[in-house]
Amino acid sequence: MKLSKFERYPLTFGPTPIEFLPRLSDAIGAEVEFYAKREDCNSGLALGGNKLRKLEYIVPDAVASGADTLVSIGGVQSNHTRMVAATAAKIGMKCVVIQESWVPHDDAVYDRVGNILMTRLMGADSRLVDDGFDIGIRRSWEEAMQSVRDAGGVPYAIPAGASVHKYGGLGYANFAEEVRSQEADLGFRFDYVVVCCVTGSTQGGMIVGFAADNRADRVIGIDASGTPDQLRVQMRGIVDTTAKLVELGRAVREDEIVIKKDYAYPSYGVPSSETNDAIRLAARTEAMITDPVYEGKSMQGMIDLAKKGFFPKGSKVLYAHLGGVPAINGYSYTYRNG
Ligand SMILES: Cc1ncc(COP(=O)(O)O)c(C=O)c1O
Repeated sequence: MKLSKFERYPLTFGPTPIEFLPRLSDAIGAEVEFYAKREDCNSGLALGGNKLRKLEYIVPDAVASGADTLVSIGGVQSNHTRMVAATAAKIGMKCVVIQESWVPHDDAVYDRVGNILMTRLMGADSRLVDDGFDIGIRRSWEEAMQSVRDAGGVPYAIPAGASVHKYGGLGYANFAEEVRSQEADLGFRFDYVVVCCVTGSTQGGMIVGFAADNRADRVIGIDASGTPDQLRVQMRGIVDTTAKLVELGRAVREDEIVIKKDYAYPSYGVPSSETNDAIRLAARTEAMITDPVYEGKSMQGMIDLAKKGFFPKGSKVLYAHLGGVPAINGYSYTYRNG
């Protein structure tokens, strides 16, 4: 796998820590050891998260394009648009972000706190629109691009989740390289990686990265989109583009793309009572905070799979904590009693 030929603009602190989760492992009680790779602690830019690892490979292209404005899209409490706003501030560009009504959720301060608050603080032009959830390319986003051009600016397009971008998968292909070198220091290999998936380039990148040592099928994606068929098609495209870019040297098979569909209910952005139980368990055993949109669902999936015996006894499972905690502020009523 050839990643070093791609330029990488530093937005993160460097390799993220891996920590053992002994109390969570005990509480789950499946004779499996759980570890977390803390992508949520990866940067000093506006609380960080998985998007920065992707954006590190996208920024050089944005700068080379002569653009002066990053344009992107997400939901009202999008972590991604926060990270694009942070990147724009850091590299001295303007930023326009479209924030759609992706989540059927009411909270008095939903559009005032957390991600959107920080996005606004960093100077991004945040535009609220009414359209519902969709991980694909949107009309409102095309219109935002045009509005930048009409004002004499030069936009640079970053799709939802930085996923359907030619370089969107590189960051998490590199994650696999990083895990391999950490495994060499730890003296053992992880048997599984558990990761939340919605727009597809986090898991898609990991699949290519771990295909290099033939363990892509050990990357267990937990769908939080609620539209897993569309996600799978989008992820397939990202995997193929990324595999070609890094010269993987072989096609990734369908059975190497593993997506568990059972945990996104009742819908994207809305936690089930099982999601909330998982969030509380991680918080009360490890003080590891997960959010109701993404990481709470992958935590729920990991716990449920463990309890059902999916991971053989003695396995070492690496939970990729991708960030997302700021959104929890938009769920103040849900967690009013903890
Ligand atoms: C905190 C968090 N976890 C998981 C994901 C899912 O990653 P991806 O969109 O690359 O599938 C996202 C973004 O969508 C996110 O912000």
